[in-house]
Amino acid sequence: MNPPATADTLTVLYDGACPLCRREIAHVKGLAERQGNSDLCFVDISRETEGDTRSDAERAALLARFHVQRADGSRLDGAAAFVAMWRRLPGWRWLAKLAGLPGALPLLELAYRGFLVVRPTMQKIARRNDTAQSTSDLAATPRLSVYLERELRSDHAGETGAVAIYQGISTIAAWRGDAELIEFASQHGQTEAEHLRLIEAWFPPARRSRLLGPWRVAGWLTGALPALFGRRAVYATIAAVETFVDQHYQQQIDHLQSHGGPEGLLPLLLRCQSDERHHRDEAAALAGAKTSWPLRAWCQVVGTGSAAAVVLARRV
Ligand SMILES: [Fe+2]
Ligand SMILES: [Fe+2]
Repeated sequence: MNPPATADTLTVLYDGACPLCRREIAHVKGLAERQGNSDLCFVDISRETEGDTRSDAERAALLARFHVQRADGSRLDGAAAFVAMWRRLPGWRWLAKLAGLPGALPLLELAYRGFLVVRPTMQKIARRNDTAQSTSDLAATPRLSVYLERELRSDHAGETGAVAIYQGISTIAAWRGDAELIEFASQHGQTEAEHLRLIEAWFPPARRSRLLGPWRVAGWLTGALPALFGRRAVYATIAAVETFVDQHYQQQIDHLQSHGGPEGLLPLLLRCQSDERHHRDEAAALAGAKTSWPLRAWCQVVGTGSAAAVVLARRV
């Protein structure tokens, strides 16, 4: 996506020879296309192109770290470059805002430097996976754009976590002998298990998140912890989770409605979203309008945690 350059254009210089960068940039391009006026340009600097006057040394330096270039020619690199890019992307601005908190940018830079250490190993694994997938499940499953593949990976991880949330609620509700909460968790849990089954049919094991174990644990705790405090805490938690899930599905629905996609995917997402909205509204009504500040703070944590989990699950 390379619109005509303007004074606001930010050029993302990426390594098109790296499988990790290719996936990341494909996803970012999908988001930038949805935004329309993101003013992001993407330039693959892994190979020399016509009119490219960069020396080998300059190219090597640009490839060693992530860079973005402003219209005036000045550049940002590392964590600062990511933050500048996130500011232009729908669904990522909250992360750019977090990075603006005192001390956050140095921490992100530290994390990025840590990533650079393991990057060569991750590149090797990604290349091996690309080869394995191209010869196995790619032919047997619906063709998905890189953007949709990443979103479905996060959907699958999310539904896995959702099933675990209700297992966590059920466990504590059974321990407390709370029949109403057991019934609530059973009904919602069955719907989530059906969502998971439907998404699994679209998404073969080789493509799923490699962090399904941690997502199950996080989901179980997200259900079990509020259940220790009673029904109202559970209902408010579910309302917070489903508010986020509804928005997450809406982003994908918007994308499919404007860009199209494989047959059957849009109805599937609409169906899941409709169920999630029903869950959200039911839980919000049960929680009631008056909630304590610790519960509101917890729900804030749950909403932010869900958003962070999606960011991670898209990639890993
Ligand atoms: Fe669901
Ligand atoms: Fe749900």
